[in-house]
Amino acid sequence: MKTLLVTGGAGFIGSNFIKYILNKYPDYKVVNYDILTYAGNIMNLQDIESFDNYVFVKGDIRNREAVNQVFKSFDVDMVINFAAESHVDRSIEDPEIFLKTNVLGTQVLLDIAKEYWKSNKNDKYCKEFKEGVKFLQVSTDEVYGSLGETGFFKETTPLMPNSPYSASKASADMIVRAYHETFGIPVNITRCSNNYGPYQFPEKLIPLMIINCIDGKDLPVYGDGMQIRDWLHVSDHCSAIDAVLHDGKIGEVYNVGGNNEKANVEIVKKILNYTGKSEDLIKYVKDRLGHDRRYAIDNTKISRELGWNPLYVFEDGIEETIQWYLSNSEWLLNVLSGDYVKYYEKMYDESM
Ligand code: NAD
Ligand code: DAU
Repeated sequence: MKTLLVTGGAGFIGSNFIKYILNKYPDYKVVNYDILTYAGNIMNLQDIESFDNYVFVKGDIRNREAVNQVFKSFDVDMVINFAAESHVDRSIEDPEIFLKTNVLGTQVLLDIAKEYWKSNKNDKYCKEFKEGVKFLQVSTDEVYGSLGETGFFKETTPLMPNSPYSASKASADMIVRAYHETFGIPVNITRCSNNYGPYQFPEKLIPLMIINCIDGKDLPVYGDGMQIRDWLHVSDHCSAIDAVLHDGKIGEVYNVGGNNEKANVEIVKKILNYTGKSEDLIKYVKDRLGHDRRYAIDNTKISRELGWNPLYVFEDGIEETIQWYLSNSEWLLNVLSGDYVKYYEKMYDESM
Protein backbone atom coordinates (compact mmCIF):
# COMPACT_ATOMS: atom_id res chain seq x y z
CA MET A 1 0.00 0.00 0.00
CA LYS A 2 1.35 3.43 -0.96
CA THR A 3 0.81 6.37 1.35
CA LEU A 4 0.25 9.74 -0.28
CA LEU A 5 0.59 12.93 1.73
CA VAL A 6 -1.73 15.44 0.06
CA THR A 7 -1.12 18.90 1.45
CA GLY A 8 -3.89 21.46 1.00
CA GLY A 9 -6.32 18.59 0.39
CA ALA A 10 -9.27 20.51 1.81
CA GLY A 11 -9.05 23.16 -0.90
CA PHE A 12 -10.63 23.18 -4.36
CA ILE A 13 -8.21 21.07 -6.40
CA GLY A 14 -6.82 19.05 -3.48
CA SER A 15 -10.26 17.79 -2.42
CA ASN A 16 -11.16 16.84 -6.00
CA PHE A 17 -7.79 15.10 -6.31
CA ILE A 18 -8.20 13.03 -3.13
CA LYS A 19 -11.56 11.72 -4.30
CA TYR A 20 -10.17 11.03 -7.77
CA ILE A 21 -7.14 9.13 -6.48
CA LEU A 22 -9.00 7.05 -3.86
CA ASN A 23 -11.53 6.07 -6.46
CA LYS A 24 -8.84 5.02 -8.94
CA TYR A 25 -6.42 3.42 -6.44
CA PRO A 26 -8.53 1.97 -3.62
CA ASP A 27 -5.43 0.31 -2.12
CA TYR A 28 -3.67 3.66 -1.53
CA LYS A 29 -3.77 5.49 1.77
CA VAL A 30 -4.24 9.27 1.65
CA VAL A 31 -3.25 11.63 4.44
CA ASN A 32 -4.82 15.03 3.92
CA TYR A 33 -2.70 17.64 5.72
CA ASP A 34 -4.33 21.06 5.70
CA ILE A 35 -4.40 24.03 8.04
CA LEU A 36 -7.95 24.97 6.94
CA THR A 37 -7.54 28.59 5.93
CA TYR A 38 -10.64 30.43 4.68
CA ALA A 39 -10.19 28.43 1.43
CA GLY A 40 -9.98 25.00 3.04
CA ASN A 41 -13.17 23.20 3.92
CA ILE A 42 -13.38 19.59 4.99
CA MET A 43 -17.02 19.60 4.07
CA ASN A 44 -15.59 19.10 0.55
CA LEU A 45 -14.56 15.60 1.66
CA GLN A 46 -17.65 14.62 3.59
CA ASP A 47 -18.43 11.66 1.32
CA ILE A 48 -15.09 9.94 2.01
CA GLU A 49 -14.61 10.87 5.67
CA SER A 50 -15.42 7.36 6.81
CA PHE A 51 -13.00 5.57 4.46
CA ASP A 52 -10.41 3.47 6.35
CA ASN A 53 -7.67 4.54 3.95
CA TYR A 54 -8.30 8.29 4.34
CA VAL A 55 -7.18 10.45 7.24
CA PHE A 56 -7.36 14.18 7.84
CA VAL A 57 -4.68 15.91 9.92
CA LYS A 58 -5.05 19.59 10.65
CA GLY A 59 -1.66 21.23 10.37
CA ASP A 60 0.59 23.83 8.82
CA ILE A 61 3.18 22.98 6.13
CA ARG A 62 5.46 25.57 7.76
CA ASN A 63 5.50 23.60 11.02
CA ARG A 64 8.61 21.40 10.79
CA GLU A 65 7.84 19.31 13.86
CA ALA A 66 4.27 18.60 12.80
CA VAL A 67 5.27 17.69 9.24
CA ASN A 68 8.00 15.40 10.57
CA GLN A 69 5.45 13.73 12.83
CA VAL A 70 3.14 13.10 9.88
CA PHE A 71 5.95 11.45 7.88
CA LYS A 72 6.80 9.23 10.83
CA SER A 73 3.26 8.33 11.83
CA PHE A 74 2.11 7.43 8.32
CA ASP A 75 5.36 6.39 6.59
CA VAL A 76 4.74 8.71 3.65
CA ASP A 77 5.82 7.53 0.16
CA MET A 78 4.74 10.46 -1.99
CA VAL A 79 3.93 14.12 -1.41
CA ILE A 80 1.57 16.08 -3.63
CA ASN A 81 1.90 19.68 -2.54
CA PHE A 82 -1.28 21.64 -3.21
CA ALA A 83 -1.08 23.71 -0.01
CA ALA A 84 -0.82 27.37 -0.90
CA GLU A 85 -2.32 30.78 -0.76
CA SER A 86 -3.85 30.75 -4.22
CA HIS A 87 -5.70 33.98 -4.96
CA VAL A 88 -3.91 36.67 -6.99
CA ASP A 89 -6.04 39.59 -5.69
CA ARG A 90 -5.26 38.67 -2.08
CA SER A 91 -1.53 38.55 -2.93
CA ILE A 92 -1.78 42.13 -4.16
CA GLU A 93 -3.44 43.19 -0.88
CA ASP A 94 -1.09 41.27 1.42
CA PRO A 95 1.91 39.51 -0.17
CA GLU A 96 3.70 38.29 2.97
CA ILE A 97 1.62 35.21 3.75
CA PHE A 98 2.13 34.10 0.13
CA LEU A 99 5.88 33.99 0.64
CA LYS A 100 5.59 32.31 4.02
CA THR A 101 3.22 29.57 2.92
CA ASN A 102 4.11 29.05 -0.71
CA VAL A 103 7.90 29.33 -0.46
CA LEU A 104 8.93 28.54 3.11
CA GLY A 105 6.20 25.93 3.55
CA THR A 106 7.39 24.12 0.43
CA GLN A 107 10.97 24.19 1.70
CA VAL A 108 9.93 22.64 5.03
CA LEU A 109 8.15 19.81 3.20
CA LEU A 110 11.20 19.21 1.00
CA ASP A 111 13.56 19.17 3.99
CA ILE A 112 11.51 16.64 5.88
CA ALA A 113 10.92 14.47 2.79
CA LYS A 114 14.65 14.50 2.00
CA GLU A 115 15.64 13.36 5.47
CA TYR A 116 12.87 10.80 5.76
CA TRP A 117 13.37 9.23 2.34
CA LYS A 118 17.15 9.10 1.99
CA SER A 119 18.63 5.59 2.10
CA ASN A 120 21.43 6.36 4.57
CA LYS A 121 20.21 8.71 7.26
CA ASN A 122 23.70 9.11 8.78
CA ASP A 123 25.27 10.30 5.54
CA LYS A 124 24.60 13.96 4.92
CA TYR A 125 25.85 13.59 1.34
CA CYS A 126 23.57 10.64 0.59
CA LYS A 127 21.78 11.19 -2.74
CA GLU A 128 20.05 7.81 -2.83
CA PHE A 129 16.42 7.55 -1.89
CA LYS A 130 13.95 4.88 -0.92
CA GLU A 131 12.39 3.14 -3.93
CA GLY A 132 9.19 4.69 -5.30
CA VAL A 133 9.22 8.00 -3.44
CA LYS A 134 8.37 11.31 -5.12
CA PHE A 135 7.67 14.95 -4.31
CA LEU A 136 5.20 16.49 -6.73
CA GLN A 137 4.91 20.27 -6.66
CA VAL A 138 1.58 21.58 -7.99
CA SER A 139 2.53 24.81 -9.70
CA THR A 140 0.85 27.17 -12.12
CA ASP A 141 1.17 28.59 -15.63
CA GLU A 142 1.29 32.06 -13.99
CA VAL A 143 5.01 31.55 -13.26
CA TYR A 144 5.67 32.22 -16.98
CA GLY A 145 4.16 35.71 -16.86
CA SER A 146 1.98 37.04 -19.62
CA LEU A 147 1.71 36.26 -23.35
CA GLY A 148 0.96 38.62 -26.20
CA GLU A 149 -1.68 37.76 -28.78
CA THR A 150 0.22 34.72 -30.06
CA GLY A 151 2.42 31.93 -28.71
CA PHE A 152 2.17 29.37 -25.91
CA PHE A 153 3.94 28.62 -22.65
CA LYS A 154 6.35 25.71 -23.04
CA GLU A 155 8.27 24.10 -20.18
CA THR A 156 11.34 25.94 -21.49
CA THR A 157 9.69 29.38 -21.42
CA PRO A 158 11.64 31.61 -18.97
CA LEU A 159 9.90 32.30 -15.65
CA MET A 160 8.68 35.92 -15.51
CA PRO A 161 6.07 36.03 -12.72
CA ASN A 162 4.21 39.33 -12.39
CA SER A 163 2.13 39.09 -9.19
CA PRO A 164 3.28 38.36 -5.65
CA TYR A 165 1.29 35.10 -5.93
CA SER A 166 3.01 33.97 -9.11
CA ALA A 167 6.40 35.12 -7.83
CA SER A 168 5.90 32.98 -4.72
CA LYS A 169 4.94 29.97 -6.86
CA ALA A 170 7.94 30.52 -9.16
CA SER A 171 10.18 30.73 -6.08
CA ALA A 172 8.76 27.45 -4.82
CA ASP A 173 9.45 25.86 -8.23
CA MET A 174 13.05 27.04 -7.99
CA ILE A 175 13.53 25.61 -4.51
CA VAL A 176 12.00 22.28 -5.62
CA ARG A 177 14.39 22.23 -8.58
CA ALA A 178 17.35 23.11 -6.34
CA TYR A 179 16.54 20.29 -3.88
CA HIS A 180 16.52 17.88 -6.80
CA GLU A 181 19.79 19.17 -8.27
CA THR A 182 21.65 19.50 -4.95
CA PHE A 183 20.28 16.64 -2.86
CA GLY A 184 18.92 14.34 -5.56
CA ILE A 185 15.40 14.19 -4.14
CA PRO A 186 13.00 12.77 -6.79
CA VAL A 187 10.65 15.54 -7.87
CA ASN A 188 8.23 16.65 -10.55
CA ILE A 189 6.62 20.02 -11.10
CA THR A 190 3.29 20.48 -12.88
CA ARG A 191 2.29 23.91 -14.21
CA CYS A 192 -1.40 24.05 -14.89
CA SER A 193 -3.76 26.64 -16.32
CA ASN A 194 -7.01 27.96 -14.76
CA ASN A 195 -9.17 25.24 -13.22
CA TYR A 196 -12.94 25.26 -12.90
CA GLY A 197 -15.39 22.79 -11.40
CA PRO A 198 -17.09 21.93 -8.11
CA TYR A 199 -15.86 23.11 -4.67
CA GLN A 200 -13.96 26.20 -5.86
CA PHE A 201 -14.04 28.99 -3.29
CA PRO A 202 -16.34 31.74 -4.60
CA GLU A 203 -13.71 34.46 -4.84
CA LYS A 204 -12.39 33.12 -8.18
CA LEU A 205 -13.95 34.31 -11.45
CA ILE A 206 -16.34 31.46 -12.30
CA PRO A 207 -17.90 30.69 -8.88
CA LEU A 208 -18.00 34.40 -7.98
CA MET A 209 -19.93 35.23 -11.13
CA ILE A 210 -22.31 32.33 -10.54
CA ILE A 211 -23.14 33.36 -6.97
CA ASN A 212 -23.56 36.98 -7.99
CA CYS A 213 -26.01 35.83 -10.68
CA ILE A 214 -27.90 33.80 -8.08
CA ASP A 215 -28.06 36.89 -5.82
CA GLY A 216 -28.84 39.30 -8.70
CA LYS A 217 -25.69 41.30 -7.85
CA ASP A 218 -23.36 43.13 -10.27
CA LEU A 219 -20.69 41.00 -11.96
CA PRO A 220 -17.36 42.85 -11.57
CA VAL A 221 -15.28 42.47 -14.73
CA TYR A 222 -11.75 43.84 -14.44
CA GLY A 223 -10.58 46.33 -17.09
CA ASP A 224 -11.95 45.58 -20.56
CA GLY A 225 -12.67 41.90 -19.77
CA MET A 226 -10.63 40.79 -22.78
CA GLN A 227 -7.92 39.04 -20.75
CA ILE A 228 -7.50 35.44 -21.88
CA ARG A 229 -7.28 32.40 -19.65
CA ASP A 230 -6.98 28.72 -20.68
CA TRP A 231 -9.70 26.85 -18.74
CA LEU A 232 -9.33 23.23 -17.67
CA HIS A 233 -11.86 21.14 -15.77
CA VAL A 234 -10.48 20.18 -12.35
CA SER A 235 -10.94 16.45 -13.05
CA ASP A 236 -8.62 16.79 -16.07
CA HIS A 237 -6.06 18.44 -13.80
CA CYS A 238 -6.40 15.48 -11.40
CA SER A 239 -5.75 12.96 -14.18
CA ALA A 240 -2.71 14.97 -15.31
CA ILE A 241 -1.26 14.91 -11.78
CA ASP A 242 -1.95 11.18 -11.61
CA ALA A 243 -0.04 10.68 -14.90
CA VAL A 244 2.94 12.73 -13.71
CA LEU A 245 2.96 11.15 -10.25
CA HIS A 246 3.15 7.64 -11.66
CA ASP A 247 5.00 8.06 -14.95
CA GLY A 248 6.62 11.50 -14.96
CA LYS A 249 10.36 11.44 -15.59
CA ILE A 250 12.17 12.38 -12.39
CA GLY A 251 13.29 16.02 -12.26
CA GLU A 252 10.99 17.12 -15.10
CA VAL A 253 8.43 19.89 -15.39
CA TYR A 254 5.11 19.22 -17.16
CA ASN A 255 2.74 21.91 -18.41
CA VAL A 256 -0.98 21.12 -18.19
CA GLY A 257 -3.66 23.02 -20.09
CA GLY A 258 -7.11 22.72 -21.60
CA ASN A 259 -6.48 23.96 -25.17
CA ASN A 260 -9.37 26.20 -24.29
CA GLU A 261 -8.66 29.93 -24.42
CA LYS A 262 -11.50 32.24 -23.48
CA ALA A 263 -11.80 35.96 -22.78
CA ASN A 264 -13.12 36.66 -19.28
CA VAL A 265 -16.16 38.53 -20.53
CA GLU A 266 -17.09 35.57 -22.73
CA ILE A 267 -17.17 33.34 -19.64
CA VAL A 268 -19.24 35.90 -17.75
CA LYS A 269 -21.77 36.16 -20.59
CA LYS A 270 -22.05 32.38 -20.75
CA ILE A 271 -22.91 32.26 -17.04
CA LEU A 272 -25.47 35.06 -17.43
CA ASN A 273 -27.02 33.28 -20.36
CA TYR A 274 -27.21 29.91 -18.60
CA THR A 275 -28.75 31.42 -15.46
CA GLY A 276 -31.19 33.52 -17.53
CA LYS A 277 -29.88 36.84 -16.21
CA SER A 278 -29.42 40.10 -18.12
CA GLU A 279 -26.04 41.31 -19.39
CA ASP A 280 -26.89 44.60 -17.66
CA LEU A 281 -25.49 42.96 -14.52
CA ILE A 282 -21.97 43.21 -16.00
CA LYS A 283 -20.04 46.00 -14.31
CA TYR A 284 -16.66 46.94 -15.76
CA VAL A 285 -14.47 47.87 -12.77
CA LYS A 286 -10.92 49.09 -12.21
CA ASP A 287 -8.36 46.64 -13.56
CA ARG A 288 -6.32 44.31 -11.35
CA LEU A 289 -2.82 45.72 -10.74
CA GLY A 290 -0.24 44.08 -13.02
CA HIS A 291 -3.02 42.08 -14.68
CA ASP A 292 -1.60 39.38 -16.99
CA ARG A 293 -3.19 39.70 -20.42
CA ARG A 294 -3.07 36.16 -21.78
CA TYR A 295 -2.13 32.64 -20.70
CA ALA A 296 -1.99 29.66 -23.07
CA ILE A 297 -0.37 26.29 -22.54
CA ASP A 298 1.49 24.05 -24.94
CA ASN A 299 0.52 20.51 -23.84
CA THR A 300 2.84 18.71 -26.25
CA LYS A 301 5.23 17.28 -23.65
CA ILE A 302 2.69 15.69 -21.30
CA SER A 303 0.62 14.50 -24.22
CA ARG A 304 3.54 12.92 -26.08
CA GLU A 305 5.46 11.50 -23.08
CA LEU A 306 2.62 10.46 -20.80
CA GLY A 307 -0.33 10.15 -23.17
CA TRP A 308 -2.39 12.67 -21.17
CA ASN A 309 -5.00 14.85 -22.86
CA PRO A 310 -7.91 16.82 -21.41
CA LEU A 311 -11.24 14.99 -21.76
CA TYR A 312 -13.82 17.61 -20.81
CA VAL A 313 -15.59 19.65 -23.49
CA PHE A 314 -15.76 23.17 -22.04
CA GLU A 315 -19.41 23.76 -23.00
CA ASP A 316 -20.43 20.66 -21.03
CA GLY A 317 -18.03 21.31 -18.15
CA ILE A 318 -19.14 24.89 -17.56
CA GLU A 319 -22.85 23.98 -17.64
CA GLU A 320 -22.25 21.11 -15.24
CA THR A 321 -20.29 23.46 -12.98
CA ILE A 322 -22.96 26.19 -12.98
CA GLN A 323 -25.54 23.53 -12.23
CA TRP A 324 -23.41 22.21 -9.36
CA TYR A 325 -23.33 25.65 -7.70
CA LEU A 326 -27.05 26.14 -8.28
CA SER A 327 -27.75 22.77 -6.65
CA ASN A 328 -25.36 23.19 -3.71
CA SER A 329 -26.66 26.28 -1.98
CA GLU A 330 -26.03 24.72 1.44
CA TRP A 331 -22.33 24.32 0.61
CA LEU A 332 -22.22 27.91 -0.63
CA LEU A 333 -23.92 29.28 2.45
CA ASN A 334 -21.62 27.37 4.76
CA VAL A 335 -18.46 28.30 2.89
CA LEU A 336 -19.45 31.92 2.82
CA SER A 337 -20.51 32.08 6.46
CA GLY A 338 -17.55 30.05 7.66
CA ASP A 339 -19.78 28.43 10.30
CA TYR A 340 -19.34 24.92 9.02
CA VAL A 341 -15.57 25.36 8.86
CA LYS A 342 -15.54 26.59 12.44
CA TYR A 343 -17.67 23.65 13.54
CA TYR A 344 -15.30 21.13 11.99
CA GLU A 345 -12.18 22.96 13.11
CA LYS A 346 -13.45 22.72 16.66
CA MET A 347 -14.21 19.04 16.23
CA TYR A 348 -10.74 18.25 14.90
CA ASP A 349 -8.93 20.48 17.41
CA GLU A 350 -10.63 18.59 20.17
CA SER A 351 -9.84 15.21 18.71
CA MET A 352 -6.07 15.81 18.40
P1 NAD B 1 -7.28 26.65 -2.62
O1 NAD B 1 -7.00 28.03 -2.15
O2 NAD B 1 -8.68 26.26 -2.94
O3 NAD B 1 -6.74 25.59 -1.55
C1 NAD B 1 -5.51 25.74 -0.88
C2 NAD B 1 -5.53 24.81 0.33
O4 NAD B 1 -4.26 24.93 0.99
C3 NAD B 1 -6.61 25.18 1.36
O5 NAD B 1 -7.31 24.02 1.74
C4 NAD B 1 -5.81 25.75 2.52
O6 NAD B 1 -6.43 25.54 3.78
C5 NAD B 1 -4.49 25.00 2.38
N1 NAD B 1 -3.37 25.70 3.02
C6 NAD B 1 -3.04 27.02 2.88
N2 NAD B 1 -1.98 27.31 3.65
C7 NAD B 1 -1.60 26.14 4.26
C8 NAD B 1 -0.57 25.80 5.17
N3 NAD B 1 0.31 26.72 5.62
N4 NAD B 1 -0.47 24.52 5.60
C9 NAD B 1 -1.37 23.58 5.17
N5 NAD B 1 -2.38 23.86 4.32
C10 NAD B 1 -2.49 25.12 3.87
O7 NAD B 1 -6.33 26.43 -3.87
P2 NAD B 1 -6.57 25.58 -5.20
O8 NAD B 1 -7.20 26.44 -6.20
O9 NAD B 1 -7.14 24.27 -4.83
O10 NAD B 1 -5.04 25.37 -5.65
C11 NAD B 1 -4.27 24.29 -5.15
C12 NAD B 1 -2.86 24.39 -5.70
O11 NAD B 1 -2.91 24.35 -7.12
C13 NAD B 1 -2.13 25.67 -5.33
O12 NAD B 1 -0.81 25.35 -5.05
C14 NAD B 1 -2.25 26.54 -6.58
O13 NAD B 1 -1.15 27.40 -6.69
C15 NAD B 1 -2.23 25.49 -7.66
N6 NAD B 1 -2.95 25.84 -8.91
C16 NAD B 1 -4.23 26.28 -8.87
C17 NAD B 1 -4.91 26.54 -10.06
C18 NAD B 1 -6.34 27.02 -10.07
O14 NAD B 1 -6.85 27.36 -11.14
N7 NAD B 1 -7.04 27.06 -8.95
C19 NAD B 1 -4.25 26.35 -11.27
C20 NAD B 1 -2.92 25.90 -11.27
C21 NAD B 1 -2.29 25.62 -10.08
O1 DAU C 1 -3.58 30.23 -14.21
C1 DAU C 1 -3.64 29.47 -13.04
C2 DAU C 1 -4.10 30.35 -11.90
O2 DAU C 1 -5.49 30.60 -12.09
C3 DAU C 1 -3.85 29.72 -10.53
O3 DAU C 1 -2.49 29.59 -10.32
C4 DAU C 1 -4.47 30.59 -9.42
O4 DAU C 1 -4.33 29.94 -8.16
C5 DAU C 1 -5.93 30.80 -9.72
O5 DAU C 1 -6.49 31.67 -8.75
C6 DAU C 1 -6.12 31.38 -11.11
O6 DAU C 1 -5.61 32.73 -11.18
P1 DAU C 1 -6.40 33.89 -11.97
O7 DAU C 1 -6.00 35.20 -11.43
O8 DAU C 1 -6.30 33.69 -13.43
O9 DAU C 1 -7.91 33.52 -11.52
P2 DAU C 1 -9.14 34.41 -11.08
O10 DAU C 1 -10.34 33.52 -11.03
O11 DAU C 1 -8.87 35.25 -9.89
O12 DAU C 1 -9.32 35.39 -12.32
C7 DAU C 1 -9.52 34.92 -13.64
C8 DAU C 1 -9.59 36.11 -14.56
O13 DAU C 1 -10.80 36.84 -14.28
C9 DAU C 1 -8.46 37.10 -14.37
O14 DAU C 1 -8.10 37.64 -15.62
C10 DAU C 1 -9.05 38.18 -13.49
C11 DAU C 1 -10.51 38.19 -13.90
N1 DAU C 1 -11.47 38.55 -12.82
C12 DAU C 1 -11.40 37.88 -11.65
C13 DAU C 1 -12.29 38.18 -10.64
C14 DAU C 1 -12.19 37.45 -9.30
C15 DAU C 1 -12.44 39.52 -13.07
O15 DAU C 1 -12.52 40.11 -14.15
N2 DAU C 1 -13.31 39.81 -12.06
C16 DAU C 1 -13.26 39.19 -10.84
O16 DAU C 1 -14.09 39.52 -9.94
